[in-house]
Amino acid sequence: MLSSRIQKIQPSLTLAINAKAIAMKKQGIDVLKFGTGEPDFDTPDPIKEAAKRAIDDGFTKYTAVNGITELKDAICAKLKRDNGIDCDGGEVMVSNGGKQALYNCFMAILNPGDEVIVPSPYWVSYADMIAVADGVIKTVDTTVNHFKLTAEMVEQAITHRTRAVILNSPSNPTGAVMTREEIEKIGALALEHDFYVISDEVYEYFFYGSTKPFSLASVPKMKEWVITINAVSKTYSMTGWRIGYCAAPRALIKAMGNLQGHSTSNPCSIAQKAALAALTGPQDCVKQMVDEFKRRRDYVHKAMNQIPGFELANPEGAFYAFPKVSACFMAGRNNSFEFSEFLLEKAHVAVIPGGAFGKEGDGYIRFSYATSMNDLEEGMKRIRAVLN
Ligand SMILES: Cc1ncc(COP(=O)(O)O)c(C=O)c1O
Repeated sequence: MLSSRIQKIQPSLTLAINAKAIAMKKQGIDVLKFGTGEPDFDTPDPIKEAAKRAIDDGFTKYTAVNGITELKDAICAKLKRDNGIDCDGGEVMVSNGGKQALYNCFMAILNPGDEVIVPSPYWVSYADMIAVADGVIKTVDTTVNHFKLTAEMVEQAITHRTRAVILNSPSNPTGAVMTREEIEKIGALALEHDFYVISDEVYEYFFYGSTKPFSLASVPKMKEWVITINAVSKTYSMTGWRIGYCAAPRALIKAMGNLQGHSTSNPCSIAQKAALAALTGPQDCVKQMVDEFKRRRDYVHKAMNQIPGFELANPEGAFYAFPKVSACFMAGRNNSFEFSEFLLEKAHVAVIPGGAFGKEGDGYIRFSYATSMNDLEEGMKRIRAVLN
């Protein structure tokens, strides 16, 4: 017998296509995978060395639930330096990935029926996490505005049950980056209507245009209403290490710590030492990765717009292209799921159907360029060939 809570969670809609891609690879078919949500670079050596040292030094026991003091201090220093956010160790906590930070947050702020405004297309886990926390997702269609959420859209979605709005800039899956001005306007609505702004900044360094991501918690009057989520996962190519963090009002951090203490306890002691090395060590690895992603982004933007039926505005951030492909839909490939299956079967190219990111995404596919330039070139060639 399963609980009604667990039955609210959907199996990942992308699993089927991934499973098929893996099965095809096992049969010896050369499938190119563009579905991945992680950088293709190795974790930098100084970070790995710090983890090895932690093991050798016996730093292998439970730590404080909310993370070791040195790491929390390093997070505060980073938030001040890069984001302009003033906070101390009682206003931050470390979790097992940005995911656990978000999960803690929804569990701590939502009562049954509370609504969370989410710009759609959205990163899939938001919907399921909100559902598990007995909340209600209120999607706002951003396809009408180049995937950019506006204060006007948020205002129209506000009800007396609104508890939070999610900002995810740069965005997964669309790559959109919001302007400071728009974010501040949304902040003003949060103050007026008493709801939280959850600012998911895990792609903060991955931006390629003139719009620089902005952290709303840097505005002093907003601090009590903003929950900033981040992680070392994408920035330092550390997705498997599972270290994320959150900056939020003190009472909320305390409540989230209580939950974490009774679920996973502290994040991995060794990974915390690795994250400390990442945040306090040389940052040139980040710049190198961002420069390489920009080169690939430029290539993908140009190449995709040469594919008949594909339409792609230049993605400003993250490492995803989210082209509109509905002009390629026809019998047998009439939505993003069927179209992605078609690409997998005919071109041996795996992408994620846009519909997996909310119904507003269904005319699109998500294509990750966190893969080698060779694979990108070959992938574009294959897609062009099957659509001609
Ligand atoms: C938008 C967004 N937020 C949060 C996360 C969570 O990252 P992690 O739990 O790997 O730190 C991801 C990972 O894919 C993401 O895309």
